[in-house]
Order: sequence, then structure tokens, then C-alpha cells
Amino acid sequence: MPTTDLAGAKIHYLDTGSGKDVFLLLHAFPLHSGMWSRQVAALSPKYRVIAPDYPGLGKSTPRPEPSTMEALAEQVLGVLGSLQIDRAIVVGLSMGGYLCFELYRRRPGLFRGLALCDTKPGADTPEGAANREAFAKNAIEKGLHWVADEMTPKLLRPQPDPAAVREVRHLIGQGTPAGVGSAQRGMARRPDSTPTLATITCPTLVVVGAEDTLTPPSEAEKMVAGIKGARLAKIAGAGHMPNLEATAEFDRVLLDFAAGLPK
Ligand code: MLT
Repeated sequence: MPTTDLAGAKIHYLDTGSGKDVFLLLHAFPLHSGMWSRQVAALSPKYRVIAPDYPGLGKSTPRPEPSTMEALAEQVLGVLGSLQIDRAIVVGLSMGGYLCFELYRRRPGLFRGLALCDTKPGADTPEGAANREAFAKNAIEKGLHWVADEMTPKLLRPQPDPAAVREVRHLIGQGTPAGVGSAQRGMARRPDSTPTLATITCPTLVVVGAEDTLTPPSEAEKMVAGIKGARLAKIAGAGHMPNLEATAEFDRVLLDFAAGLPK
């Protein structure tokens, strides 16, 4: 995987596929770009696919400071700048969706299309932010096994496929406790993106697993109502990670969306 040096941190990213149209895939917490492996396989025959790892997750080096959406947006724009990419179909799942809002505020011209998957626009409540701080401390103290125990059941549908459980635990295990802490602390500081919804003018697809309990279909419906012309795809048989639990349907929806975008 290539890396870009940004303010002393090595940001790893996947850069694969062919074609002049680009997909930018932004991963969920506490995973990394590897969560997109099936989408990379589906998209890469026709599209170039860029998928960065946030600091301390996957192969990017950890940094002590919170991975705020502002800092992550700078890193992602740094990667795209180094590749001279100024236009992409941007897909963000959960934390990746929070990052999409920040990227949109900074660089609306980047977006050929936007797919917001299993995410929500609101900020944390004070209680939610305090829970993230407690999670960050526990992650650093207790390690990634504890993180996987906490997060895996939340990310997958009730009664998940054991292979999906193994895969998610494996992806979590490839991060670092510091990276998990930075991501939680960064998400706790994210702004309310609800006012951003009305400013989004690019074609937008909202995707949600029908059994997502972390960012349920009601959140997806709010985003569809708030973004002009947005379409909703509710994916049966999936929780918070429809890309992993209902891959064929997720990929179909994404490929159809991309095929229908104006040139
Ligand atoms: C994610 O999947 O990225 C996280 O669950 C998002 C969050 O903790 O808010």
C-alpha cells in the first residue's frame, strides 16, 4: 500500500483499479480500508478506488491527538492532492460518513456523487461524548481484544454469520489501541452536520442496513428528507455493515448509483 507523509504521520491508502472515474471509500470505526475488500473487487474493474486508513487504524501510524473530522479531512485531501485527484464518488460508512460531511464543507467540488452509508448527521450528546472518552481510556488500557468484544456485536446484525464476526474481529485487531482512542476522541468532537444537509447539491445515495441499531433506518430517512433529491436504499439482512453482510445488494446499489451519475 502506498503512503503519504502528512505532518509527520504516514497515511496509508489503497490505490487500485482502472478507469478515470474515482471512488473514494471512507471506512467505519474501529476498522480500516480492508473493510472494503469486497467493494474493491466489485468496483475496480471499472473504477479507480482510493481508500485511506485513519491514523492508528489499519496501517497508518497512530498520532496522540484526536482524529477530528477536520484533521482527517486534511489528511484525505492531502492524499488526493498527492495523486492529483480533484473529483470522486465519495462513499462513507458511519465514521466515514461523518468525515464526508466535513469534506463536503471544505471541498464540495470534489463530489461527483455522495453515498452516505449507515451514518448520521448529528453531533454527540454530552453523555455520548463522555462515553467515547471512557471507551478511549478502556481501549488504551485493555487493548484491541476488549475493543473487538465491545464493538463487533454492535456492527453486525443480530445472529450474525460467524464468518462476518471473525472478519470484523480480525480487522479490529489490525489497528492500535491509540488509534481507537484517537478516533473516539475525534468523533466526540465532531460538529453537528445537520445544517450541512441542505447545502449538499451533488447526487446523493443514502444506504442503511435494515437491522442497523447504531445508526438505524430512521436516521437514514432524516438524511434523505434533508438532502435535495437524495435516494434511500434500505438493505435487508444487514446491520451496521451492509457492505459486509449483504455484499451483493450493497455493491449493486453502489454500481447502479455510479452508472447513473451525470458525466
Ligand atoms: C462507526 O461504525 O464508524 C461507529 O460506530 C460510529 C460511531 O461510533 O458513532
